[in-house]
Amino acid sequence: MSRRLTGIERMLTGLRPRLLAAMLLVSAVTLGVAAIAVLSPLEQRLREDGVREVQYAILADRPRFAHMPVEPRTGLPARHRLHRVEAELGHRAGDADATLLNKEMEVIHPPRYRDLNIPAYFPVARRALTKKSFVHKVVDESLIVALRLKIGGRRYVLVVNKHLQYVAQAVGVVRKAFLVAAAAGLLTALLLGIGIATAMLRRLERLRDATARLERRGLDAPAPQDSGRDEIGDLARSFAGMQSQLQRQEDARRAFVATASHELRTPLASLDGMLELLEDDLSAGSLDLEDARLRTENAREQTRRLSQLATDLLDLSRLDTEAPLRSEPLELGELTRAVAAEFELTAEKREVSLDIQPPREPCWTSADPGSVARIVRILIDNALRFAPPATSIEVSAGRDRDFAQILVRDYGPGVPPHERDRIFERFTRGHGAAAGRGAGFGLGLAIGRELATRMGGSLELVDETALTAEGGLASANGGAPAARNGSAGEGACFALRLPAMRVESEIAIA
Ligand SMILES: Nc1ncnc2c1ncn2[C@@H]1O[C@H](COP(=O)(O)OP(=O)(O)OP(=O)(O)O)[C@@H](O)[C@H]1O
Ligand SMILES: [Mg+2]
Repeated sequence: MSRRLTGIERMLTGLRPRLLAAMLLVSAVTLGVAAIAVLSPLEQRLREDGVREVQYAILADRPRFAHMPVEPRTGLPARHRLHRVEAELGHRAGDADATLLNKEMEVIHPPRYRDLNIPAYFPVARRALTKKSFVHKVVDESLIVALRLKIGGRRYVLVVNKHLQYVAQAVGVVRKAFLVAAAAGLLTALLLGIGIATAMLRRLERLRDATARLERRGLDAPAPQDSGRDEIGDLARSFAGMQSQLQRQEDARRAFVATASHELRTPLASLDGMLELLEDDLSAGSLDLEDARLRTENAREQTRRLSQLATDLLDLSRLDTEAPLRSEPLELGELTRAVAAEFELTAEKREVSLDIQPPREPCWTSADPGSVARIVRILIDNALRFAPPATSIEVSAGRDRDFAQILVRDYGPGVPPHERDRIFERFTRGHGAAAGRGAGFGLGLAIGRELATRMGGSLELVDETALTAEGGLASANGGAPAARNGSAGEGACFALRLPAMRVESEIAIA
């Protein structure tokens, strides 16, 4: 019996901890990656927007600086105008401070020193003096943007200082939102994981119990039931299907063994009886030679039946083990002629004529020659057993659309409608079987059909009407079989169909 997981093993390596860990990991990684993907670019973007806002404001006010009147006495920009323009620029740039420095880095217009980031401020201004374009730097959440200007023919540097705390604040809000989402996500994953894992494990445990029951009690144990429309439900249904299939096979095997033993017992008992009588006669010294000859003949008939049964059982067991059949090109006309020839003597004895009709053109298939010959033998043997004297048995090969087929037709009693399917089952003889000479075991057609199916074909009892439509035997004979005389009945016609193989000329035309 297979070992079950211990409690500790279940806690460490069972499906529940693994599923939970996987769900937690997935939600943690998802939120972590989302945070990294959003927070850093968001911060970057907000800073760039800040720089752009300041630069646009400076560009918009640049003409006002260029055309600013200067004080005639000092040559410096008019203080009141400078104050207004700088204030408006600071407002436009989003609550920023604007400062004007001369090229000696002296502050022309008094800045608000409380906002000025002195150590970082002057290097930026100095760099702007040597460049035509904007220079900017972010120091301690403070953005410094500088641009060279000319007022009244003199060079100045306009420096705008803007606080970027709002960037940190916005990023902080989003970060907090992520943390809340992460906590909620992880909690949901945990609860969902526990719920799903518990439900799944309960169903898996039921399945495991069902297999354990099967192990203990065999195929009669109740099959697992799970109506879930998911993979576990599918597994349970496949399991139940497999169990009932095995049950059916087991029942069929038991029935087969029982019937086979019964069939074996009958000829063995009769053989034993005959030998016993012979022995009695020998012991009493009253042996009648003619009587003894008859008994030995009967005994030989029984051994022949036993050997036939042994061959059939061997064939069936080979079919059951699904041993592979050969597949090679086979011309059915030639095979039919050869097999039918084996029965000529028997046919003659029974005063039945064997009418072998060759195909109009070679009729190729790809099959196992031994198995096809076996099926034809089964069909001719049956026909010979049922055909009344002075009738004919017609054996023909031909093409029927995509099939190569062999038809075996006799004019015996035929098969009643209610037996048409049954006669193909193992150990099933028809009611008319007694009328046929030398009752068989009811295995021939079952073996024939299984062999035909294994070769991709079929073995069927066909209607005369269907035959005519297919251009089979009836039409070949003009629908008026010559041998329908005397005690001829409805007759039976069996068709073995195998996939046709196209010959080279057909392939060339296609
Ligand atoms: N040509 C036929 N005409 C009438 N009935 C037939 C014919 N062939 C088969 N049957 C019916 O089908 C039954 C099954 O045939 P099948 O060949 O399987 O077994 P069997 O001939 O009785 O025994 P076995 O072939 O094992 O020696 C027969 O018992 C018979 O009733
Ligand atoms: Mg038979």
